[in-house]
Amino acid sequence: MTMRVNSHPVLGKLGERKQITIYFNGKPFQAYEGDTIASSMMAEGVYTLRQHEESGKERGIYCNIGHCFECRVKLGGRRVVRACMTPVFNGMEINSLTAFGERDE
Ligand code: FES
Repeated sequence: MTMRVNSHPVLGKLGERKQITIYFNGKPFQAYEGDTIASSMMAEGVYTLRQHEESGKERGIYCNIGHCFECRVKLGGRRVVRACMTPVFNGMEINSLTAFGERDE
């Protein structure tokens, strides 16, 4: 069941947007152009974006404005980005961070 907000009490009804497919840890998810990785995953009920490097505890968005880096994920197994600040594109491959020191190559 999607948790996507299609109509907002202040912003009104959201317009038609192009549906795309993104992949999180290899699993396909529906998203829309203009979404961020974080908003796409939350709309699909996925709140854990990575595991803490030392404790292994689940981590997701915290500030949702690009300051805390709690939402960092890997794109295509290489580039590390903030999920709350990164727009999705069709076919995007996103992976959780699980180990200390994973970063841009
Ligand atoms: S949730 Fe804080 S930078 Fe993304």
